[in-house]
Amino acid sequence: MGVHDGGVCQMAIKRIGVVGSGIMGAGVAEVAAAAGFEVVLRSRSQESADAMLAGLDASLARQLKKERITDDAAAELRARVSAVTTLDELAACDLVLESVVEDLATKQELFRELDRVCTPSAILATNTSTLPVVEMAMVTERPDRVCGIHFFNPAPAMSLVELVPAITTSNEVLAEARAFVEACGKTAVTVKDQAGFIVNALLFPYLNNAVRLYDAGVASRDDIDAAMKGGGNFPMGPLELLDLVGLDTSVAILDALFAEFHDPNFAPTPLLRRMVAAQHLGRKTGVGFYDYPR
Ligand SMILES: NC(=O)c1ccc[n+]([C@@H]2O[C@H](COP(=O)([O-])OP(=O)(O)OC[C@H]3O[C@@H](n4cnc5c(N)ncnc54)[C@H](O)[C@@H]3O)[C@@H](O)[C@H]2O)c1
Repeated sequence: MGVHDGGVCQMAIKRIGVVGSGIMGAGVAEVAAAAGFEVVLRSRSQESADAMLAGLDASLARQLKKERITDDAAAELRARVSAVTTLDELAACDLVLESVVEDLATKQELFRELDRVCTPSAILATNTSTLPVVEMAMVTERPDRVCGIHFFNPAPAMSLVELVPAITTSNEVLAEARAFVEACGKTAVTVKDQAGFIVNALLFPYLNNAVRLYDAGVASRDDIDAAMKGGGNFPMGPLELLDLVGLDTSVAILDALFAEFHDPNFAPTPLLRRMVAAQHLGRKTGVGFYDYPR
């Protein structure tokens, strides 16, 4: 489901900037490139830019091996992705999606810079899981052209995207964001700009309470995960899923939910904070509730 038809691009959005070379940035870049968009990936260092491109190459190699993609399609996809290290190199992008650390001050600083660098018509979007989109919109001179576009992890595999218009977002920008998401082959739902949107508002109390059960010694890690896979028909257990999301990101999500709603179910279980302090962040550091030998 590409945006190109006989070489003619049918959407106003053609070139996508992706900022942040973590779990989500890499996945979204792959999704957009697979859909036929030109993708410019911005990392802060050449080292992480190179690591992102190597990750994309590895993902394409896996797909080739499974015959999910042809040699030609993989080569064309790869040719659409470039990696840069300065924000200025995003100047020609029609839509920039930031996917940096879940921290409002960091994201606001980034939005100020993107507003300076990008053309006034560009859409600036955030992949935040919980933070207020309007607070990013309001540090720019284009609060009508800022929107939340929340992909799920891993982005190439997950079909849902939450579209989160701030109260300042124009209907036109929301429609363009939806067209982009649908061109990426994803299903869009629209949700108000409040912490957790739909999925994380429902998911995180469950994940947090799974850590509480584990910490209280009610059941072992393996039994908690086995119970929810076998008894809830979930594809992953809650502790496995926290490791996939990243425990630092999970604590940031819970903190934002608690700050908004003051519901004790959202208050991060102390064990989660201790694991983050120890850099037991899950898959990304090789240790979390499980070990991930490198
Ligand atoms: N992990 C998930 O399951 C998931 C799912 C959907 C959305 N998100 C959201 O996506 C965003 C990124 O999450 P992730 O899981 O990819 O995180 P990650 O920890 O894998 O990557 C974070 C990225 O931010 C960069 N970064 C850190 N500090 C920065 C700074 N001061 N300035 C610029 N860049 C900085 C890091 O270098 C890294 O590239 C967050 O907003 C998160 O809430 C995460």
